[in-house]
Amino acid sequence: AIDTRTLRAETGYITFDEGYGNTGSCKSEITFIDGEKGILRHRGYRIEDLAEKARFLETAYLIIYGELPSGDDYEAFRGRVHRNTAIHVGMESHFDGFPLDAHPMAILSSLLNSLGCYYPNLASNDREQDLEHFDEAAPLAISKVRTLAAMAYRMKVGKPFVYPDHKLLYSQNLLHMMFSEPYEQYVASETVAHALDLFLLLHADHEQNCSTSTVRMVASGGANLFASVSAGVSALWGPLHGGANMAVIRMLEAIHKDGDDGSRFIEAAKRKEARLMGFGHRVYRNFDPRAKILGKACTRVLDEMGKSDPLLDIARRLEQAALEDSYFIDRKLYPNVDFYSGILLKAIGIPVEMFTVLFAIGRLPGWLANWREIASEKDGRIHRPRQIYTGPAERDYIPLRTR
Ligand code: ACO
Repeated sequence: AIDTRTLRAETGYITFDEGYGNTGSCKSEITFIDGEKGILRHRGYRIEDLAEKARFLETAYLIIYGELPSGDDYEAFRGRVHRNTAIHVGMESHFDGFPLDAHPMAILSSLLNSLGCYYPNLASNDREQDLEHFDEAAPLAISKVRTLAAMAYRMKVGKPFVYPDHKLLYSQNLLHMMFSEPYEQYVASETVAHALDLFLLLHADHEQNCSTSTVRMVASGGANLFASVSAGVSALWGPLHGGANMAVIRMLEAIHKDGDDGSRFIEAAKRKEARLMGFGHRVYRNFDPRAKILGKACTRVLDEMGKSDPLLDIARRLEQAALEDSYFIDRKLYPNVDFYSGILLKAIGIPVEMFTVLFAIGRLPGWLANWREIASEKDGRIHRPRQIYTGPAERDYIPLRTR
């Protein structure tokens, strides 16, 4: 139900739309969603077609620049991504300051913001200058976010950093930097590399979700691209947003450990004692097309790898039970992209604490495109929502000695 009311505030009438469920905060040419019909298109292209025929970097280019790249444009873009894999040596010392159990999302957010300090000409907070350098900054960010993510993981497991290998594909290079040993390079199989590429592609943009709106909000004040996307990482971290992919696995593991087939958990969710993570979406009220694609990819990847996962069986049972239950039907709650993404990532060997980091790598093109859209607005206004004040009415100050 839409709860959009016009309430009287002290300063006049203000439209109250809690959580912005029915508020269009901007005009955008990037992504189209029809939540009732389960449609997702980037720049007019159906997500199903992109998932089947395109790669992550090609989709990133499309989302950022608005058109599928020509062969030359694509090579130039990929070349920029490849040339920017290494991190300034000064940045390596940042890792010494973090405690070993620091969450990689905290590291990623801090270091993405710090990255701007090493490229002051790309992060000047002067819109015109930052836009002028955007073609340099965007592939640089797409490249370095991956290296920083891998370094955060290596730090956590107490292993030396691994330098990127330019011969590898984008997803393979990430896995190489995470998992290679000094005398044994990890080169992901075609199946694994393709599955990770698909995961990144399916997360590349999703309209005005919590993190993208955050990026736009920060950018609307004129902040540079690195500061803006770093705020996006922080917004993504929470379990109701990007952190849901971790939460789904934790939930499935707990159900498995309890010897539950999922039915007890479903009942607990209906009594509001638990939340069925990976279910429900603010916009999709029928199905999430990304979840459909990932659900199929999960089965395919597990089959190709000759693996079985009891968690996938529990997930399938939960999905079936929820789809037949009036609690979920009435509230239009269906699996979202996170429901299967965790199982896919787990199957290809990604540790759970890196799931949301991988989501951030995937979502970066969307954040960059939205930053560019805001920065290019000729008459753009700073985003500044109002509120309905519910605190005390005016009162007189009481001196400390008489309180
Ligand atoms: N399990 C059980 N009940 C749920 C769930 C769920 N996952 N999601 C919503 N509900 C119930 C609510 O309790 C509420 O019930 P009520 O009408 O009896 O009070 C009703 O459905 C509406 O829920 P809201 O929380 O108002 O829905 P909202 O649109 O605000 O939230 C959200 C959407 C955050 C995705 C929610 O469905 C949720 O918490 N899902 C689980 C977390 C998750 O998977 N997040 C990932 C989202 S996709 C992404 O970020 C990539």
